[in-house]
Amino acid sequence: MNFRNTSRSWGAISKALHWLIALLIITQWVIASRADNLPLGAAKLQAIAWHKSFGMTILALAIIRLVWRWVNPVPTLDGVTRTWERRLATISHVMLYGLIFAMPLSGWLMSSARNFPVSWFGLYQFPDLVAANKPLYELTHDLHGAMFNALVCVALLHIAGALKHHFIDKNDVLKRMLPFGGARHD
Ligand code: HEM
Ligand code: HEM
Repeated sequence: MNFRNTSRSWGAISKALHWLIALLIITQWVIASRADNLPLGAAKLQAIAWHKSFGMTILALAIIRLVWRWVNPVPTLDGVTRTWERRLATISHVMLYGLIFAMPLSGWLMSSARNFPVSWFGLYQFPDLVAANKPLYELTHDLHGAMFNALVCVALLHIAGALKHHFIDKNDVLKRMLPFGGARHD
């Protein structure tokens, strides 16, 4: 198994981080919707605590992912894609990276501004980023929701792009990101 990326293919670490973060984002949406539908009480507080813990996990994984990307070759899209496709891919990847940082940071800021603690599964408590601040809470609350809508839109475009590569262009772009994809390792 190739742990590192090559110039043509993603290594196991990059693939694991890509799919783990994608899975955790779906988990975040499921937990947040569940919390939203529950009446105020222990079950709702537990759901929000999990949402915060998984969200801070995404922040840590996003940092690891960027560092790993920095110390590895990034597989090129040259030769398999057109210029406009590469531009669109770069813009959407930058937005997706930005959002996997901005979502947890806005959540953390929102909780601090509301004077609610952010803990990681009850094992570690994160410091407050700011003192209690109602207008900031309202702003970050709205931002958190709006950014999630943006994330859904960009992710849908991203998925459509991946499917186009696979089914229409019939190239290796999707296969080389799949966990057991048969991409080339040269
Ligand atoms: C990538 C990570 C995250 C994603 C995808 C995400 C997504 C969401 C979504 C979809 C909602 C529901 C929004 C709504 O109903 O308007 C929500 C609500 C919330 N999120 Fe996150 N979240 C993430 C990280 C975090 C983190 C790290 C925290 C706190 C440390 C946090 C705190 C909250 C809180 C407190 C709410 C409830 C807001 C309310 O009272 O309605 N989130 N999140
Ligand atoms: C079914 C869902 C998904 C599919 C099929 C998919 C597919 C892919 C593929 C094939 C690539 C590699 C492109 C290349 O080789 O240049 C990729 C890269 C990427 N994906 Fe996804 N993806 C999915 C979900 C997500 C989600 C939810 C995110 C949100 C954070 C995401 C963020 C990224 C980023 C940031 C890259 C660029 C990696 C880099 O250049 O370091 N993906 N995705």
